Amino acid sequence: MKKILIAAAAVALAGAMGSAVAGDAAAGKAKSATCAGCHGPQGVSMVPTYPNLAGQKEAYLAKAIRDYKSGTRTDATMKAMTAALSDADVDNLAAYYASLSCK
Ligand code: HEC
Repeated sequence: MKKILIAAAAVALAGAMGSAVAGDAAAGKAKSATCAGCHGPQGVSMVPTYPNLAGQKEAYLAKAIRDYKSGTRTDATMKAMTAALSDADVDNLAAYYASLSCK
């Protein structure tokens, strides 16, 4: 019994250290419908001036979205797109796009 508890604690700790943000990719996918119009249904954009998001680093995506929301990074379109996102939405969207293949 003690061994099982120690093993469970080790797994939990490894998971916590594995990534700085822990978003839920499935929840992010559900939230991504509005983003898909510009960034593509698979996170690969069809428009030269809209960036691809698929395969980008999760922590970078979360930071970029928060920066648009706060105004640290200025883009009128993305400010409007991020205004209504909750903290959990940001982490989930970042996890979702990071999980996609960029090919
Ligand atoms: C109307 C089109 C449009 C929609 C809809 C849209 N975006 Fe964007 N997005 C852009 C454009 C244009 C940029 C580039 C802005 C810039 O120059 O900083 C961008 C940039 C980004 C970036 C930064 C990418 C990088 O490489 O730095 C992220 C992350 C992002 N968008 C996420 C989202 C998410 C998440 C949603 C949905 C909630 C969304 N976008 C909806 C047009 C859009």
